[in-house]
Amino acid sequence: MNLNDCYNFDDFRKLAKKNLPAPIFHYIDGGADDETTLKRNTESFLKCDLVPNILASVGEPDLSTSVFGQKIDIPLFLSPSAMQRLYHHDGDKASARAAEKFGTFYSMSTMATSSIEEIANVSGGPKMFQLYIHKDQGLTDNLIDRCKNSGFKAMCLTVDTVVAGNRERDHRWGFTTPPKLTLKSLLSFATHPKWAFNYLTHEKFQLANVSHWTKKGSSIAKGVMDYINEQYDPAMSWKDAEYVVKKWGGPFALKGVMSVEDAKRAVEIGASAIMLSNHGGRQLDGSRSPFDQLPAIADAVGGKLEIILDGGIRRGTHILKALSLGATACSFGKGFLFALGAGGQKGVEKILQRMKDEIRRDMILLGCKSLKELNKTKIAYR
Ligand code: LAC
Repeated sequence: MNLNDCYNFDDFRKLAKKNLPAPIFHYIDGGADDETTLKRNTESFLKCDLVPNILASVGEPDLSTSVFGQKIDIPLFLSPSAMQRLYHHDGDKASARAAEKFGTFYSMSTMATSSIEEIANVSGGPKMFQLYIHKDQGLTDNLIDRCKNSGFKAMCLTVDTVVAGNRERDHRWGFTTPPKLTLKSLLSFATHPKWAFNYLTHEKFQLANVSHWTKKGSSIAKGVMDYINEQYDPAMSWKDAEYVVKKWGGPFALKGVMSVEDAKRAVEIGASAIMLSNHGGRQLDGSRSPFDQLPAIADAVGGKLEIILDGGIRRGTHILKALSLGATACSFGKGFLFALGAGGQKGVEKILQRMKDEIRRDMILLGCKSLKELNKTKIAYR
């Protein structure tokens, strides 16, 4: 199996599974507890159907939209995702370059394995930074200042990860960062010699944005959840979010908003966007899916801020359903991470091309010339 055999999410996932040592594959693939929310995120797109209009003379549909004050060529971008160096030795550089080619946002995690400055050097495309509030306020300020100096366009604050979710697959497989050879993981590293060779012969693994600040972010093999529990501020509050909005001063999203009250409050504190997300089902298992919650959120705050739907996206039609119900754009994590594991930058480009082709074809089949024509009339519930 190679990249040319990858037509959809499941194919990229299969190839990533083949390429990556098991603890790493399962870190991407897994969710919290029983993974019910992880499954629900995608299943919820099945609760309604698209209703096409015929003879609409679409010709070539316009797939562009605008988010964070930036025009993007497709209504899909890369969610912030930690430690991409584990999935391919080019890590964040590969995904940032691929996103730039497709005229869309690459997002950088606080826990990225390339630094803000490195990525600013390799990609002129639109970039968002994802912030975690560390207990050490100095580090939070440092990250915001560096993003300003490096031309990042937008910032999001993740608000659903004040403590680490219970990712049982990580315990089972002995996932640590940097990867550590343990009895549990030894066999899977040994049976992926290509990955192991590339891992060892390319630049050293480090949490490049925070390693100068905290030794725990660098070379000590640790459970990533231990890092979160030690370093992040579990008492984060609306005051902290307001502080970030003011200090950053640019396009800003709260990432992990799920309730109507919180969406309204996001408007009040001056956020320009919310990312409707449950962290890919990796935090509170049993929580509602973003797609199920979208109509209520769009009713309450649609038009007052941008709504990014993040979670469960596997197909172009999922994006079209979300946009019809009021989302401004969508983002995906697992989709592009499996593609990165499947084939580095080429892999990410391939899945973005597949998604773009799907969106384009489905827009024509739906009878829509531009994304603005997507609205509730395109949706029927079962
Ligand atoms: C995760 C955190 C680190 O979901 O964002 O693994």
